[in-house]
Amino acid sequence: MEEALRSGLRHGRWAAGEKIPSVRTMAEELGVHRLTVLKGYRLLEEEGLLEASYRSGYYVRAEVPAGEAAGSGVRWSYGAGTACGAESRLSDIHRRAVRYRMSEALLDPTLLPNRFLARHAQEVIASQPLLLSTYSTVMGDGELREAMAGYMQDRRLELSAEELMVTTGAQQGMDLAFRALLQPGDKALIERPTYSPAIDMLRQLGVRMLPVEIRPDGYDLDRVEKLMAAERPKLFYLNPTYHNPTGYTVPVRQRKALLELAERYRCILIEDEAYSDLYFHEPPPAPLFAYDTEGWVVYLRSYSKYIAPGLRIAFLAARPPLLAAIRPLKALADGGTPLLGQKLFQSFFFSHRMQEHLAKLRVAVSMRKEAMEQALSASGWSWESPAGGLNLWVRLPEGMQASRLLERSLELSAAFVPGPICDPLDAMQDRIRLSYSLLDERRLAEGLARVLEAAEGMG
Ligand SMILES: Cc1ncc(COP(=O)(O)O)c(C=O)c1O
Repeated sequence: MEEALRSGLRHGRWAAGEKIPSVRTMAEELGVHRLTVLKGYRLLEEEGLLEASYRSGYYVRAEVPAGEAAGSGVRWSYGAGTACGAESRLSDIHRRAVRYRMSEALLDPTLLPNRFLARHAQEVIASQPLLLSTYSTVMGDGELREAMAGYMQDRRLELSAEELMVTTGAQQGMDLAFRALLQPGDKALIERPTYSPAIDMLRQLGVRMLPVEIRPDGYDLDRVEKLMAAERPKLFYLNPTYHNPTGYTVPVRQRKALLELAERYRCILIEDEAYSDLYFHEPPPAPLFAYDTEGWVVYLRSYSKYIAPGLRIAFLAARPPLLAAIRPLKALADGGTPLLGQKLFQSFFFSHRMQEHLAKLRVAVSMRKEAMEQALSASGWSWESPAGGLNLWVRLPEGMQASRLLERSLELSAAFVPGPICDPLDAMQDRIRLSYSLLDERRLAEGLARVLEAAEGMG
């Protein structure tokens, strides 16, 4: 609890001099007893990070000790700064050279259409010799956007090519949308847990995050409404379909209700969908964007997960006024996603071969998920079996700390993502994310045996 607060202060959740949430609000947010919060506040007061004001509450001390200044993060000698202090907390883990990599929600390259794409790349360049000597337009290639709009219309999404922008990965879409719509000091709702680069980006922007728990059956919408009404957040970043890291899917009735709340409280929904085609049985519900008639949703659609992460082709869809706010930032960022990747993507995506690839992939990925569940079945650990996506969100036995388990697993050459990395409050030490997409069944069993060996004697 103190660590979550300390980290909130370190990462600029509250500015110097700002009042932090009351003991009651913080206890509700963290799901702990009020006395626990009070004890934490007093400890941080003793450490000089907080100041108590009679009857008014606790404030962040105006002169925070060096290196801990709220919002500053790491400062280099030339004055530039980053709020997360590292490129991204997730890439720190990905950089570790390990034999059993269950930390990356990426597909095994042997399951991707690499050879076909390589042959195709030559054909695409040969048939369009001017391709490499031309810039794309800012919004992306017109032909691709037309084709994608048609494809999405077939899948219950009413939109035109003018409402679609090609981005260099969904990650760029997030960055553009956040920067276009948020100012330092603004508030944003964010799922707890969430896709960790979103936390890093919002911290970097000096945005105050308001966490909303995601559960197997969605969100506590009363809490969402209370936060929207009381805090007036500018946006809500959500990943409602085979959510990363939990695998949960928000039900249809909540999707519709969220749209109503967004309209009522003028809160933009940034809907990030990277896994929706990777379902194991039934397709998931339509995206929130399908219900967006008034222009409150920015819909991000990544295709890195099952075509070619190396191409970094994704789409950002929004109704025209919202898109008009984001477009200038895309022009400044790169002037348009490289054309070669867009053409190559188009030639594969709309082929019959793609549908075959996807059907086979769903079977292969679900077999890997089952292999992971089988390997963990005697562990006593628990999880909700996901209906799609690439990750298992596992609850550890009481007393076992995810970061300590990671240290020990890394010594045995096995990696996963510890819960706190996905938590805007830096807690969730009782959770880990295990990705079943990169290793085959045999290597998953070997890797998980190492993680279980690392866990022996802990907890
Ligand atoms: C929820 C979510 N959003 C966005 C991304 C990034 O996608 P892209 O490769 O298109 O940038 C990922 C990749 O892991 C993801 O899981």
